[in-house]
Amino acid sequence: MYRIVAKKEVAPAVKSLTIDAPLLAKKARPGQFIIIRIGEEGERIPLTIAGLDVQQGTITTIFLEVGKTTKQLGCLNEGDAISDLAGPLGNPTEIKNYGSVVCVGGGVGVAPLYLVAKALKDAGNEVISIIGGRTKELLIFEDEMQQASDELYIATDDGSKGHHGFVTDVLQELIAKQKIDRVLAVGPTVMMRAVAKVTKNHNIKTIVSLNPIMVDGTGMCGACRVTVGGETKFTCVDGPEFDAHLVDFEELMNRQRTYITEEKVALERCGRCRH
Ligand code: NAD
Ligand code: FES
Repeated sequence: MYRIVAKKEVAPAVKSLTIDAPLLAKKARPGQFIIIRIGEEGERIPLTIAGLDVQQGTITTIFLEVGKTTKQLGCLNEGDAISDLAGPLGNPTEIKNYGSVVCVGGGVGVAPLYLVAKALKDAGNEVISIIGGRTKELLIFEDEMQQASDELYIATDDGSKGHHGFVTDVLQELIAKQKIDRVLAVGPTVMMRAVAKVTKNHNIKTIVSLNPIMVDGTGMCGACRVTVGGETKFTCVDGPEFDAHLVDFEELMNRQRTYITEEKVALERCGRCRH
């Protein structure tokens, strides 16, 4: 069992859980993820790693309550425990001194991007970050991203803070005024597809962290299959990061919708906090 040592609501329907997992905290690197199961009959879901504390032996994950399992997870409190936690999974982000790197984060995707931005800054890069949310209440990790970046830009869909519009508008403006060596994007798939479209026109190497449906997280089940550069890849073992210009985003989005009906039924049957 893995004990929850702290819980916070970081934005409406966005929760942060800090979990006692000393071995994982020691081993995990920016860009990797975990798969958890709340109880023995629960489904396995992938979650991002938003914080690591080797001294305390904890990891922090941040998630949006969208379906049955994330809502159940959001009902747990400090002192509760989850039955399984597998990780760290996937390959860490390749951290090098690339020069000027733009980190683009959308919604809850900003949380895992923080550790990546911090590592890139520590490696000597000029880190320019752009974070976006539908409205200012949904912006997360603003202070953390400020610390991890040389410059931070904010965009909200409704204009309640920063640029009125998408993160990609800000990215376009930045590209027009300075040389960018690399772009990393984490967030909703539509955002990552839009980032890829912008940077492809300027031939800027762009890395995206994909979030398909996952089951085992070890390359056995095929649930996380994506097509990259015409080849089949398994996100859990070959990714989660891929060259954005080679990803078949349409196929990924279709596959993400595979169980939409079942997910809706499961959510309707799930009374909050009665798992
Ligand atoms: P959201 O829908 O509120 O979007 C966040 C921001 O992304 C927007 O404010 C906007 O700036 C940008 N964006 C959205 N659509 C865009 C478009 N068409 N063009 C350009 N920019 C666009 O995000 P949310 O509700 O927090 O949803 C988070 C999503 O991120 C979930 O689907 C979740 O599964 C996913 N996620 C992905 C990862 C990952 O590793 N890629 C990690 C965590 C969460
Ligand atoms: Fe099963 Fe990747 S989650 S192969």
